[in-house]
Amino acid sequence: MGKHRSILITAGPTHEAIDAVRYVANRSSGRMGVAIAEAARDAGWNVTLLLGPGCAPPRDGVTVRDFVSTADLAKLLDRMFCDCDVLIMAAAVADFRPAEPAKGKIPRSQERLVVEMDRTPDLVARCASAKKPHQFVVGFALEDPQDLQRRAHEKLRRKGLDALVANPLDTMGAETVNGFLCTADGQTLTPSGKKNKDGTLSKVAFARWLIEWVGERVSKTGKG
Ligand code: C5P
Repeated sequence: MGKHRSILITAGPTHEAIDAVRYVANRSSGRMGVAIAEAARDAGWNVTLLLGPGCAPPRDGVTVRDFVSTADLAKLLDRMFCDCDVLIMAAAVADFRPAEPAKGKIPRSQERLVVEMDRTPDLVARCASAKKPHQFVVGFALEDPQDLQRRAHEKLRRKGLDALVANPLDTMGAETVNGFLCTADGQTLTPSGKKNKDGTLSKVAFARWLIEWVGERVSKTGKG
């Protein structure tokens, strides 16, 4: 399944500069995206991983490109999205970034620092709006557990995705995942595989299940 087809995966946080030495970031470890890259490699895909700062890369068999900020990741996607069959956007891209990072180091002498932030462009929505008929785009969403399913389906539609993995907030930085998959045709799928007592699954097991589903889906629909 998926032999020699190319998959582009993003993983990890972004760092958005406040000044020359400080940044705004999030708790993403990149483990989910790295596990997906390894599962895709093992399933025979040609894998490129765009990896955020501070994340441990996969051992081998995956082409890795590093990014730091949302702007870096945007440039890489602008260049590389058109050549992939599948994009899995697991990176925790900043929603806001400092409007004007200071040139040097902001001195500590002031009592209060106000940092104005601008909303970042929605990179996965931008890719989805430019996708060719054979391309398949999967997003991720971290949501408050309340009303997770309705919000996830709404987000999938708003961003124009083919599928979206929805996770409750505590998945970020954790070893395990408690997510499900929403599809553009309105289905909600939960992963098979041995679950822990609390209903979670290891990120590695979740990644294998997701890659198997993507492989089957793209060969059924002729996408990929
Ligand atoms: O809207 P929200 O941040 O919850 O959406 C999460 C999904 O959107 C993830 O797939 C993430 O990689 C992507 N995203 C993006 N560009 C942003 C913010 C999120 O591509 N600026």
